[in-house]
Amino acid sequence: MLAIEVTEFGDDSVLEEVERDRPEPGPGEVLLDVEAVGVNFADVMQRRGHYHGGPEPPYVPGMEAAGTVEATGAGVEDREAGDRVVAMLDGGAYAEYATAPAQALFDVPESISFAEAAGFPVQFLTAYLCLHDWGELDEDDDVLVQAAAGGVGTAATQLASHHGAEVYGTASTSEKLELAERLGCDHPINYTETDFAEETDDLTDGDGLDLILDGVGGDTFRESVDALAPFGTIVAYGAASGEPGTVDTATLLFGNKSVEGFHLGRATQLDPERVFAAVPELSAMLASGDLEVVVGQTFALADAADAHRALENRETTGKVVLEP
Ligand SMILES: NC(=O)c1ccc[n+]([C@@H]2O[C@H](COP(=O)([O-])OP(=O)(O)OC[C@H]3O[C@@H](n4cnc5c(N)ncnc54)[C@H](OP(=O)(O)O)[C@@H]3O)[C@@H](O)[C@H]2O)c1
Repeated sequence: MLAIEVTEFGDDSVLEEVERDRPEPGPGEVLLDVEAVGVNFADVMQRRGHYHGGPEPPYVPGMEAAGTVEATGAGVEDREAGDRVVAMLDGGAYAEYATAPAQALFDVPESISFAEAAGFPVQFLTAYLCLHDWGELDEDDDVLVQAAAGGVGTAATQLASHHGAEVYGTASTSEKLELAERLGCDHPINYTETDFAEETDDLTDGDGLDLILDGVGGDTFRESVDALAPFGTIVAYGAASGEPGTVDTATLLFGNKSVEGFHLGRATQLDPERVFAAVPELSAMLASGDLEVVVGQTFALADAADAHRALENRETTGKVVLEP
C-alpha cells in the first residue's frame, strides 16, 4: 500500500511516499480502508520535531482517518466489514490502510462524506471541550475565537454561535473573515491589520471578553490576556504561530483572569469518559445540519507535502483532507 513517511524532522520535503505492507489488525483493532485523512496542525509540529512527546522518525503521521472497516481483529464483536467509520489514531493515518482501536471509532452516517468525517473528531471535540468543559461557556458570554477560519476555529465559531454567545473571531484575510461570519461570527477582526485587544475593548464598551480560545500562541496569546474581562478565561490549546504563549502571573492575579490548558490526546488518555461525553451531542448536531464540517482543501495522499505547506503558509480554511 501507499503510505507517507516522515523520514527525519524538517520542512515538508521530509514527507516521502513509501510502499508498505498492509497492516494486520491486532486484538481489539480494526483494519480501515482509508478514504480520507484529516490533516492537523499537530502533524506539522510533529514533522518539525516541535511537538511535546511527538513520534521519532521514521514514522507514518496522521491522527484521523475515515473509511470503511476492511477486517476486524480478535475480540471485536461490534464492528463488521463495510462499516462507515472515522477513527482517532496515535499515528499511521497517512496511508491507504490503517489499524485503529475499535473503541476509538465513530459511526459515519451516509449523509456525511468521508472527507467531512475526517474533519470531525479532533477539531470538533477540541472546540466543544475548550468552550463548554474547560471554558464553561455561558450564553451571555462574549467569546473570542482566534484563527476563526481554521480547523478548530470553524468548529468553535459554530458551536459558540449555536450556544447563543456573542462571537468575536480573528483571521488574517478578508476571505477567511467572510467564512467566519458565515459560520456565526458576529464580529470578524483582521488581527494582522488591527489591534484585536483594542477593538474588542471598544466593542464590549470596555468590559473585555469572557472567554478566549487561543490556538495561535506567541504575541496573539499575550494580547489575549489584555483583551480578557475580569473573571474571564483563556483556553490555550495550541501554538500555530510556532511560539507558545507566556503570561505574567501578576497580570492574572491582579486582573482576576485565568488561563486553562487543553490537550485532546492527553485528556482522552486521562479521562476518556469526560472527552467522549461530548460525542452524542456533537454527532446529533452534525446529523441535523446544525454543524458543518468545512472542508477547505483536499489533496491526494501523495501530495501530503503540498497540504502541509499550505497549512503552514496560512493558505487553508477549515479542514485540510488527504484522499488516498
Ligand atoms: N490541544 C489540542 O488538543 C489541539 C487539538 C487540535 C488542534 N490543536 C492546535 O490548534 C491549533 C489550530 O489547529 P488546526 O489544525 O485547526 O489548524 P488551523 O487553525 O486550520 O491552521 C492554523 C491557523 O493558525 C493561524 N496562524 C496564525 N499565525 C500563524 C503562523 N505563524 N503560521 C501558521 N498559521 C498561523 C492561521 O490562521 P490565520 O491566517 O487566520 O491567522 C492558520 O490558518 C494548532 O496550534 C494545533 O496544533 C490543538
